[in-house]
Amino acid sequence: MTSSIVVASGKGGVGKTSVAVNLGLTLARQGRRTVLLDADFGMANAHILIGANPQRFVMDAIQGDASMADVLCDAPHGMKFISGGSGLLEMLNLDQTTRYQTIRMVEELRDETEVLIADVPAGASDSSIAFVAAADRVLVVLVGEPTSFLDAYSLIKAANLEANVRHFSIVVNMARSAGEAQAHFEKFKATATRFLDVSLTYAGHLPLSERMRRSVVARRPISMDQPDLPENQALMQISKSVLSAPVNDHGGIRFFSSEEGVTAGL
Ligand SMILES: Nc1ncnc2c1ncn2[C@@H]1O[C@H](COP(=O)(O)OP(=O)(O)OP(=O)(O)O)[C@@H](O)[C@H]1O
Ligand SMILES: [Mg+2]
Repeated sequence: MTSSIVVASGKGGVGKTSVAVNLGLTLARQGRRTVLLDADFGMANAHILIGANPQRFVMDAIQGDASMADVLCDAPHGMKFISGGSGLLEMLNLDQTTRYQTIRMVEELRDETEVLIADVPAGASDSSIAFVAAADRVLVVLVGEPTSFLDAYSLIKAANLEANVRHFSIVVNMARSAGEAQAHFEKFKATATRFLDVSLTYAGHLPLSERMRRSVVARRPISMDQPDLPENQALMQISKSVLSAPVNDHGGIRFFSSEEGVTAGL
């Protein structure tokens, strides 16, 4: 059984890539066959956080120069990783057909994937909505600032109204305490569910952490450090919550959906 999680946010710079990379590595460390897809095309940088130097990118598979298996790179803890490339300006504005092609091509990895995690662009662009709509579960990264609340609300609203996505998990990043993070979630949930027919599940929080920031500079993800660090305990909790959150089962183009379903939607 394969499950897909898209890590999204409204506002940029809130820690999506940090969450996606460390969540993926946390699942891989637990023995789950995990593939991380960097779908923030054009601005792809997950390879920097991982400390990898990929030679092949998802575009090679899309253009038919390689299979999806050929573009898989090795990451720590046995995680596999598909780089979105970097500085590929032409990929910033992928058309919808190419986005769907990417989602369909991930199907080739079904046998080696238990959990697919996709890091997507910030905001409610067509690109992020297409990937959000394709996933079983959507993890929205929130920080305790009004701009983050507003932009996360816009993303959830667009995904709900345009693509019928109903269930979202929320992780509060850069929190100063567990209580503060939970309060941010409750406040956000109260506003969002007042206006939208969505269900929001609290996935937990990650502390504001100098170690997290330094791990990016060092290109060594925090999830490679001791499991008992507070950040890694928090990541374990988040991984459990996300995987037990309700699954979106609306129609449309989905990761690991049947070939017929995909073809019919194109
Ligand atoms: N919990 C945290 N504590 C401290 N710093 C953090 C934390 N999470 C992320 N950061 C820092 O915040 C910055 C942005 O993180 P990241 O690149 O993961 O965000 P993003 O949402 O993917 O950004 P973008 O929208 O540009 O893709 C990085 O410098 C990272 O080190
Ligand atoms: Mg990012």
